[in-house]
Amino acid sequence: MFNTPFPQDFIWGAATSAYQIEGAVNADGRGESIWDRFSHTPGKTRDGHTGDMACDHYHRYEEDVALMAQLGLKAYRFSIAWPRILPQGRGAVNQAGLDFYRRLVDALLAHTITPYVTLFHWDLPVALQDAGGWPQRATAEAFAEYAGVVAAALGDQVRHWITINEPWCISFLSHQLGEHAPGLRDWPAAIAASHHTLLAHGLGTQAIRAAAPHAEVGLALNFTAAEPASAAPADRDAARHFDGYYNRWFLDAVAGHGYPADMVADYTAAGYLPKGMDFVHPGDLALIAAPSDFFAFNYYTREVLAAGPQPWQYQIVRPPTPRTEMGWEIYPEGLYKLLLRLHSHYSLPRIILSENGVSYLDPLEADGRVHDQGRIAYIQQHLATCQRAIAAGVPLTGFFYWSLLDNFEWAFGYHQRFGLIHVDYNTQRRYPKDSFFWYREVIRANQLPVGDG
Ligand code: FCB
Repeated sequence: MFNTPFPQDFIWGAATSAYQIEGAVNADGRGESIWDRFSHTPGKTRDGHTGDMACDHYHRYEEDVALMAQLGLKAYRFSIAWPRILPQGRGAVNQAGLDFYRRLVDALLAHTITPYVTLFHWDLPVALQDAGGWPQRATAEAFAEYAGVVAAALGDQVRHWITINEPWCISFLSHQLGEHAPGLRDWPAAIAASHHTLLAHGLGTQAIRAAAPHAEVGLALNFTAAEPASAAPADRDAARHFDGYYNRWFLDAVAGHGYPADMVADYTAAGYLPKGMDFVHPGDLALIAAPSDFFAFNYYTREVLAAGPQPWQYQIVRPPTPRTEMGWEIYPEGLYKLLLRLHSHYSLPRIILSENGVSYLDPLEADGRVHDQGRIAYIQQHLATCQRAIAAGVPLTGFFYWSLLDNFEWAFGYHQRFGLIHVDYNTQRRYPKDSFFWYREVIRANQLPVGDG
């Protein structure tokens, strides 16, 4: 039914991030990031894996861009390592860092691949962490300086900018759950960090537009579908709370509705806001809600929620449905519901799915092939879902597969493989997987293969 073509000019992309692929952590004046420190701290990542080498993309970017061209990508989303540009977080600019990204952009444009640049994908300079990091307002101000420097240097060739990747992960996953750098378990710090990441988006948007007047700027939020384990009011309330914590907290602020009152009430009742919302200064909410040129979001899975002991607590239930290597449920219907909800409840500009993808550990066969049928099925299901949403009127204009390459998957190290391209970390050889050739055909035809969907 949905084997119709995608809209003309649909943006077929793939995504990566700096710390996950670049390696070369000491090259050309790069400063230290919180992920260097975190991954080198015993017990923080599986088997102590670090991004020291990763995919060595810093030295192999030409080969990687050639692979993107072979894939037929229209757009490539990558991130810039803040510590390569401003090794101390603010102040002195490291020209060699800017030069690397200039070379990368040149290589992309030579293959007519549109760069989508993410300015912050989690590798905060340690100097800023030592000054307090995201719980401090000064970090948002430093981000705006950094954004202005990069936009001034690359804005003649880069038009599409994503300020911040996944404020939920930066704030709650990293400051409340402690799973990502800097590894804190501190609710008040996490909530303040959430505001400052959004503020950084607002201030950064201004700085980019001032430096590069033709820039198109957006923010990448990550959403998880949140559904109650039963129709019981307490389970429904747990789903409401989780949706507020993960999705609405950010979405409502960006859409101009401010922070959701039910969540402020829950956090207050829980004692997580000992000084109220004093970190929200006059004018902040207007800055955060300033219109973006596009709205980006990342989608992988859902959580099913049951009541916890308190209204601000919940339990995650795991229905026996198919899961990926990450343990994430495969749930394309959640993507459909989220897209329709975004479209009907919020007035958003055009939407791009800036990340969607799956980790499976299909082996490299002796003939150099990786038969990753599960990945093909996952992408197919999610793209068919995108088509349903487009048919229902959602202005979805692009899809970026996560990830181009197998890479350093944060706390999981190299034990997860999301790539369309297998990386042998001993040799750094790249092997396009079956999904690479399948996706190449989808891009070429601008539709799913007949028989799919
Ligand atoms: C997203 C991150 C990305 C990668 C994928 C699997 O949350 O943005 O870096 O880790 O998940």
